[in-house]
Amino acid sequence: MIDKLKLNIMSETDNSEKLYNEARGVIIGGVSRNTIFRKPYPHYASKASGCYIADIEGSVRVDFANNMAALIHGHAYPPIIDAVTEQLRKGTAYTLASEIEVAFAKLLTERVAGFERIRFVNSGTEAVMTMIKASRAYTGRAKIAKAEGTYHGTYDFAEVSQASDPSNWGDPESPESVPIAFGTPESVLNDVVVFPYNDIERTIAILDRHADQIACVLIDPVPHRVGLVKGTSEFVEAVYNWTRKNGALLVFDEVITLRVNYGGAQEKYSVTPDLTALGKIIGGGFPVGAIAGRADVMKVFDPHESKLLFPHSGTFSANPITMTAGYKAMELFDRDAVLQLNILAQKAVNQIQEAIKLADVPVSITGAGSMFRMHLKEVPPKTYREAYQTKEAKTVINELLDYMYFKENTLMINTFSCMLSTVMGQKEIDKLTQGLLNAFKALKPKIDNLNK
Ligand SMILES: Cc1ncc(COP(=O)(O)O)c(C=O)c1O
Repeated sequence: MIDKLKLNIMSETDNSEKLYNEARGVIIGGVSRNTIFRKPYPHYASKASGCYIADIEGSVRVDFANNMAALIHGHAYPPIIDAVTEQLRKGTAYTLASEIEVAFAKLLTERVAGFERIRFVNSGTEAVMTMIKASRAYTGRAKIAKAEGTYHGTYDFAEVSQASDPSNWGDPESPESVPIAFGTPESVLNDVVVFPYNDIERTIAILDRHADQIACVLIDPVPHRVGLVKGTSEFVEAVYNWTRKNGALLVFDEVITLRVNYGGAQEKYSVTPDLTALGKIIGGGFPVGAIAGRADVMKVFDPHESKLLFPHSGTFSANPITMTAGYKAMELFDRDAVLQLNILAQKAVNQIQEAIKLADVPVSITGAGSMFRMHLKEVPPKTYREAYQTKEAKTVINELLDYMYFKENTLMINTFSCMLSTVMGQKEIDKLTQGLLNAFKALKPKIDNLNK
């Protein structure tokens, strides 16, 4: 694989540490996204191909992070590269619409039953923000409801209580609205109602207290930070029924979870969200977001309306590069590809469970479809508060991640999660499992200690 990647290895002194020190002089903190920051310095990628990624020191690793779940076919997937290369020659962004945008919209709306109409934007954050604003425009209400601990990107309202901790999360009967950024206006906090995920009784009681003010209830069907646990059918149905009774919308964040089934995580519920935010895999490796859903709700964007409720634009929205890459990626992530990838993930989960037994460590695993997350707890967490990682647990997780990264040449997501890609096979799963077995054995005393 090293040969295949044809590394441009920098000289010994031109390594990531040196580059990072230079970066700190020009980029604040040295990075443009905290996700990739690692102590003492992040590594710099030189090349990536398939499920392998190389850094400028020349180390090659199996990539189980896939740019935070965005690369469903791994890196530099030839059919995407070919299609995008052809499009690059025809221009990258126009002040005109493009045919590929229409073709891609057809592909996605035919794929998922609830996607009657769609609009493209440039990121998952923008998709969630636009979905919330569309809900407000449609209902004429200001408040939104979201679950404690869920990550939905960086829009003020969506990021409330994304990282609540025991010092500020408050009573579970009425979780606090906790700001993530200093300076978040009080008015934002007042307009976000926070509920405990999968807890029907408490959630309905909380929603009832704001019944005529809530524009939408925002649900991620398999929220990563809540422990990568699935929203139960009963919970989602209860929230849906509440929204029907109270004139609110049920909106899903499927920015990550669209990969879970052919028709997204929503395919498995008996109820359909009114709107859905998309991102990540639908960009085929390029920045993307989309809002899809009920035609009558999506009318808030429609410039044909005599009273346009939500005028909406974006310079790079639906640019032909993203549309071309996304079309190819999603066309090739067909029913069979989804099925095969989910089977591979299930094999990985089974093998990891074996490794946990062999290493005799109190570790559990949660997930859905082609994604899974490990927890340093014998019993898998069911709620954000159970999944919450203490400082001590985080320290051990970072050691496990470092072990996997440096000793086992395996890149994982920093919550101790993996998001698989279609170019992976049994070989990569075996490597991951063996690496985890070694890591669990090496850190067993520390993992045991957390559970005492
Ligand atoms: C569930 C979810 N929603 C929204 C976002 C924001 O997407 P983006 O990073 O493209 O803005 C993310 C990103 O990780 C996400 O995981």
